[in-house]
Amino acid sequence: MNFTGSHILSVNQFDREAIEQVFQVADRMLPYAKRQKRTTVLNGAILGNLFFEPSTRTRVSFGTAFNLLGGEVRETTGLSNSALAKGESLYDTARVLSGYSDIIAMRHPDAGSVAEFAEGSRIPVINGGDGANEHPTQALLDLYTIQKELHAHGSTIDGMHIAMIGDLKHGRTVHSLSKLMCLFNNIRFTLISPKELAMPTAIINAIENSGHQYTITEQLAGSLDADICYQTRIQEERFSSQDEANLYRGRFRLNHQVYTKHFQSKTVIMHPLPRDSRAEANELDNDLNLNPNLAIFRQTDNGVLVRMALFALTLGVENIVSKFDQNVHWHVNS
Ligand code: CP
Repeated sequence: MNFTGSHILSVNQFDREAIEQVFQVADRMLPYAKRQKRTTVLNGAILGNLFFEPSTRTRVSFGTAFNLLGGEVRETTGLSNSALAKGESLYDTARVLSGYSDIIAMRHPDAGSVAEFAEGSRIPVINGGDGANEHPTQALLDLYTIQKELHAHGSTIDGMHIAMIGDLKHGRTVHSLSKLMCLFNNIRFTLISPKELAMPTAIINAIENSGHQYTITEQLAGSLDADICYQTRIQEERFSSQDEANLYRGRFRLNHQVYTKHFQSKTVIMHPLPRDSRAEANELDNDLNLNPNLAIFRQTDNGVLVRMALFALTLGVENIVSKFDQNVHWHVNS
């Protein structure tokens, strides 16, 4: 895969070699993310960070990643704050905004919207989530985290067993992650959701056609030898009403007791976040916060490394980042 100047819109663009390339560059970003040193390799470059749907970690970590490479960030947040609310097309918006920056990261509530925007853009566009469709950078950071967590247990992605739980219909993170995992060998998927929120057929077909094993169930039952438990949120923003979302909220609550009953003591707990911590949902209980297998905040930290790697690759500076190194002059906790 040739990253330089390319849009990153879908995990379908990636093969194993491209994933490995991203992970190798991400590894090299650690000293900058930990503020042990800084680089100015993107000095003068501008990121257009366009978030037309709520976000905390994707938006801020894209901005942080660009800043850590020495670039500057211009943000637009909320559909109502842009001329899209006046009927301007995504194409026109892209033609205009791509004249103001060097690269764009974008989130939008409609599936396919980021690809439509990219058609009008004169600069690379990175998909930060388009409706219930895809979230490619989340999938890459999840897979990067999985590789690191399994490596610490002496294991690999090939041959692993992942249990995905919750709203698998609307959860774009599980769609993108499943597709990336299809590139590996002998994966076992246990897909646990209410049948109305089951994994889309297209993803199941991709799993089946890649020769992996899968089980679809509505219950978290018995003892699972899963390496990874990937919990998800009921994506209330994708339902026609709150009442409909309420039918499923709280159906799968992962807490210490549930984890101990159904998973191995080494099973890694992941969640793309945000976790819904309201009492009626409490899908990932605070009583797991001190469990060393809870990887959710390692995921968010890894998101900065992976997004730095994608910026470096897309802007063609991945091999010269260290040439622009500087020491930092403030105290850091490493
Ligand atoms: N995981 C994720 O996409 O989080 P945000 O919605 O906060 O960006």
